[in-house]
Order: sequence, then structure tokens, then C-alpha cells
Amino acid sequence: MAFVPELLRFDSLPSTNLEAARRAGEGAPEGLCVVAREQTTGRGRLQRHWVSPKDAGLYFSIVLRPRFEQSAWSLLTLMAAVAVNDALREACALETDIKWPNDILANRKKLCGILGETVETSLGRAVVVGIGINLTKNSFSEELELVATSVETATGGRHELATILEALVAALRNHYETLKEPDGPERIVHEWCARSTYGEGKLVRVVESNGTLVGTTRGLELDGALRVETESGDLRIVRAGDVNLLRAC
Ligand code: BTN
Repeated sequence: MAFVPELLRFDSLPSTNLEAARRAGEGAPEGLCVVAREQTTGRGRLQRHWVSPKDAGLYFSIVLRPRFEQSAWSLLTLMAAVAVNDALREACALETDIKWPNDILANRKKLCGILGETVETSLGRAVVVGIGINLTKNSFSEELELVATSVETATGGRHELATILEALVAALRNHYETLKEPDGPERIVHEWCARSTYGEGKLVRVVESNGTLVGTTRGLELDGALRVETESGDLRIVRAGDVNLLRAC
């Protein structure tokens, strides 16, 4: 059965992911959504800080309690990226790209980041998926202007947070239902590839915890890992790391 979304709104939180995880620990149901006008210690991927000034971004987290095989859980953040891509198209007529694994880009600059975190709860392991969308250019510091953008800059106008939020929750619900199907992993990987220019034929540098790899992207594994063909013809499977474009092949 599809989750019934329940929305909790806050003026200020340390992190919507932390609040959603705390509530998941207390037994919050799947579909609980936490939104804050600002975050004081927003969390990013790879232990980074996510700058979250008041009313400059959409700071959102959702509690999921997947019951499908754990091997498909890594697809939850890719599924969320597909949902953000859809929501921005529907709510703002904005076409975005997805940089592996789940950065949303507009004009090659980052507009949204996604962070999935698992939580042990008395109802079993849950996943909190946190989504930060830059709404205005105040959402990131000046020194990031070369690599970051906002919905306002990319569309040339302001958009209601409520409209984006509504479209986002509907898209998450829709794509999460797809992921639960027996062929869900294939379908989500397919949807991701249809929305990303990074999946195939991009010359990239991948910075992993144990080194750097240069190669051409060759699609995704069924668990969302990125296939990269090195110059020597080896196929490497990347499960975590930062991907940067070198040039289009
Ligand atoms: C990234 O580094 O790209 C992921 C950033 C994720 C930021 C969002 S904002 C809402 C949610 N709460 C957090 O503390 N982080 C995520």
C-alpha cells in the first residue's frame, strides 16, 4: 500500500534528517515528512555541511520503511533524484540533469543534494531520505557561485515552496511504489538513465575514498552503482564517490 504522507513543519531545526530519524526511532510511520525553514547544522554527503539559510531553500526529509530486499535500498536516493527531477519539471517547468548518484543540476551547476541515512528502530531498519533544493541564490555562499545554482536563477523567477513540495511528495510516492515492484530496480535505473546525461559515455574523474579513477561511464548496475570503463579497458564498479565531468565523449 502506498504511504500516506504526513507533513511536519518547523521554523528552525538542526537538521530535518536528524528530526526525521529521531521520529522514526519513536515509531513514526512511513511517509512522515519533515520540512524546516532553516537548518542550523544541515548534513551533506561525505560528512559535509549543507548550508541552509532561512527561506532560501527547501529542506525536506521523509521516513521510509522499505520491506524489499536490502540490495535495492541503495536505489532509494536515485529514486528520490528521479522524483526531484519530475517535481521541478512539473512545478517550475525546469529541466534538470542528474549527476551520479543523486545531485540535481541545472546548467551544469548543483541545484539540489540528496542524503539517505539508515536508522535502527524498534519497527525495524528505516531510511531517512533528505532533500535540499536551492530556491534562491541566498541558499549558498558566494564562493560556490561557479558550481551551484538555484531554482530562481535557473528559471529566472521565484516559485512557491508549497507548489514544489506538493509535486515532490507526489513524485516520491509514485516512484517509491515503482521501486517496490518485482521489476522495480530495473525500472528505477531506467528512469534515472532517462533523466541523466551522466549514465553513459561521459568521461569522468571519480574520487573514491581509496583513490581516483578516470574513465568513461557505461551505465548503472541494478543496485545503482556506476560502471566506469578505464582507458585500459577495465570495467570498474563505483559504489561511493564524487564524480566530475572531464569532457563529453
Ligand atoms: C549533498 O551533500 O549533496 C546532500 C545534501 C542533503 C541536504 C538535505 S537538506 C534536508 C536534509 N537535512 C539534512 O540535514 N540534509 C538533507
